[in-house]
Amino acid sequence: MHQISKIKGFNDLWWPESAKYTFMEATAGTVFSRYGYREIRVPVLEKTELFARSIGEDTDIVQKEMFTFADRKDRLLTLRPEATAGVARAYLDDTTRPQGQICKVYTCGPMFRYERPQKGRQRQFHQVNAELFGSASPCADAELIAMLWRYLHELGLVHLDLHLNSLGCPQCRPEFSRRLQEYLAEQALDALCPDCRRRKETNPLRVLDCKVPGCQKIAENAPNILDHLCSECRDHFSSVQNILQACSIPYVLNHRLVRGLDYYQRTTFEVMSRDIGAQSSVAGGGRYDGLLEQLGGPPCPGIGFACGMERLAMLLDPPPAPPPDFYLAVLDPAALDQGQILALGLREQGLRGEVSFEAKGPKPQLRLANKQGAAYCILLGREELESQTVVVKDMHSGEQRTLPQSGLSEALGRSIP
Ligand code: HAM
Repeated sequence: MHQISKIKGFNDLWWPESAKYTFMEATAGTVFSRYGYREIRVPVLEKTELFARSIGEDTDIVQKEMFTFADRKDRLLTLRPEATAGVARAYLDDTTRPQGQICKVYTCGPMFRYERPQKGRQRQFHQVNAELFGSASPCADAELIAMLWRYLHELGLVHLDLHLNSLGCPQCRPEFSRRLQEYLAEQALDALCPDCRRRKETNPLRVLDCKVPGCQKIAENAPNILDHLCSECRDHFSSVQNILQACSIPYVLNHRLVRGLDYYQRTTFEVMSRDIGAQSSVAGGGRYDGLLEQLGGPPCPGIGFACGMERLAMLLDPPPAPPPDFYLAVLDPAALDQGQILALGLREQGLRGEVSFEAKGPKPQLRLANKQGAAYCILLGREELESQTVVVKDMHSGEQRTLPQSGLSEALGRSIP
């Protein structure tokens, strides 16, 4: 019978790679809680309409990257390509939430995008995601960006660049889009890629971050959105920058940072790594003050970010695993049950270690205990079984003692730092 293979772009995470993910999630919990964030867990499957309405019909994600299918009752469902839309839906669904208060939540988990798999890009990938609802203040932007920067720092990452932009608001962006369209219309017809020829009409800002060299060349001389912000957006953006500067958070202004999702307004940002090649964006986010209304809720500002865990994992070393306290070597088949009972008791007392399921000679088992880095090898043969003792070998000093089975964990526990 043929062996069933995994789905393209979906990966298994074995230890020690999985330990990096545990570390990223635990660090997120520790760091984000300092800023008042609590964990939320939302479904991975949502109605397709949720993503179409929030991320935008004309985005690559909605047009070509979603895992969408009909369920048994012909309802269109989508595996979440990102977490923001689902978290926003959950926020609106929660009628018990006190009105008028700021809500800060974070979530970690798998996302799904039908992209061409390559280094740093999978079809199932994972994000650490933070969202803040209920404040339009630039202080919220600065706090969130500072929290992201702190998080990346506490993961131990270096060689990162924070790119910052403002995309304006419904007051000033349409005028800028019109100017950009005029500029794009002046360019030679075939200078833009086929996607951008369409975007030019539907979503001209997206032309600015197209990766096709011809489009990039045109984007270089395009009008700069930061020169066309209304006074409210300009004030908002300069407050964000003032706080970041005062807190020594280095950033570069990048007026071509447009982001691939349509819900953004005002502040947007991305963190790039200089160490991982083409897929260098390790985190991205921004303000989405119109999103909740777009989803049928009341007007409510919001801002958030997501880090790509696969890309962060490429920059991390696996955290070292603590060595086991013991290896219990059973030398005689008659002692197997007692070996297992003793080992279970040691773990209940908080010691870490393994026990053999089959009786073997002392040599290979001592070798295994040594390979695992165990502090002690506990030997249990027929003689020890009868006298209710064990032989304990200190793997560092080589010293060997015979100890009673009862009270073994206390005897070992006392000598384990
Ligand atoms: P995004 O820029 O689409 O934003 O994704 C955030 C990060 O997820 C990227 O910077 C990248 O590190 C990672 N990522 C995206 N696609 C893949 C992939 N196929 N394989 C591996 N990693 C990937 C969002 O998702 C927004 N929801 C962020 C946000 C939260 N904005 C406001 N709140």
